[in-house]
Amino acid sequence: MKNILRRAALAVGALLVLFVAVAAGGYLVSQGKITTKYDLAPESIPIPTDSISIARGRHLVRAIVKCADCHTEDLGGELVADNAPMGRWPSRNLTRGKGGIGASMKDEDWVRAIRHGVGRDGRGLLIMPSSVYQNLSVGDIGQIIAYVKSVPPVDRELPAISYGPVMRGLTAANKVSFFDATVVEHAKHAPALAPPEGATAEYGNYIVHTAGCAGCHGPTLAGGKIEAGDPSWPPAANLTPTGLKAYDEAAFFTALRTGVRPGGTQIKPAMPWKWTKEMTDDEIRAVWLYLKTVPPRELGAR
Ligand code: HEC
Ligand code: HEC
Repeated sequence: MKNILRRAALAVGALLVLFVAVAAGGYLVSQGKITTKYDLAPESIPIPTDSISIARGRHLVRAIVKCADCHTEDLGGELVADNAPMGRWPSRNLTRGKGGIGASMKDEDWVRAIRHGVGRDGRGLLIMPSSVYQNLSVGDIGQIIAYVKSVPPVDRELPAISYGPVMRGLTAANKVSFFDATVVEHAKHAPALAPPEGATAEYGNYIVHTAGCAGCHGPTLAGGKIEAGDPSWPPAANLTPTGLKAYDEAAFFTALRTGVRPGGTQIKPAMPWKWTKEMTDDEIRAVWLYLKTVPPRELGAR
């Protein structure tokens, strides 16, 4: 009996050692990824200062690239996640107020954060969607930065960032990339020009690839699980013609403006219609026209 107990104890002990070793290994691997430094040459993009550019920058920051979704409407930042498995994830206070980084940011620092997902300290920035922002034209990046630099100071101190065990495990196992800096093509320059603004499929294609539609609904737009998303989110919907059979243009406007689908059911807030409702008529129509041109696919097909 004693013997069996001792064996059981030994087995439990061995498992415990194994568990600690795996956890320590995972911790070290994730720590390596979290602290990877990127040494990037400063990239110069002209930042306008006129009021029309700043106003358009505001529109982009809210309705299209949605910085405001994570950095809040006043750009003072908030905790975008705060739970034991994933950790405590503050976005940054982007303003010149107390606790903000605005006063110490150079133009090239803004460009590096947006286009490369890399901070002033050379670290990859957690969940900054820079792989999407890589598609932004030079002009649009300039206008976004022009607006961000113009906002009134907000005094808001945010807690330090921390990484939970599940986030570390997923990072160590390469399951999910929480750092876009690992996937961004750093040598690629921003496109000099966007397609002309207007209600065209061509401009819709540009919006779909800069407004995160393709980021969440997948490269083929057929929807499915959002890998780097909040685990409580539903799968993204199929935006190819197969998935949008119940839609006409008017119903598409209603969905993006009010979060209600044809038939009257509510679209969950994981779909950021809180921000897409501010898209202009031309922008929504452009996206609709573009979606009609993408190849039909079954839900989740890549
Ligand atoms: C999905 C959420 C999300 C969106 C959208 C987002 N950010 Fe961030 N951003 C974050 C988080 C989280 C951090 C902090 C990351 C870290 O410290 O690792 C951050 C950090 C930053 C930083 C800090 C850089 C540094 O040197 O520390 C800047 C600048 C920034 N974001 C600008 C922007 C701008 C401009 C936009 C829109 C074009 C934007 N962000 C969109 C989540 C987001
Ligand atoms: C942050 C992730 C995210 C982004 C960005 C996003 N979506 Fe969604 N979208 C979702 C999710 C998740 C759903 C499914 C919601 C549900 O099941 O209630 C959805 C649902 C929808 C629906 C409803 C389809 C239906 O009838 O069920 C439409 C239309 C839509 N998205 C269009 C867009 C367009 C256009 C864009 C870009 C302008 C966009 N989405 C950007 C996550 C996103």
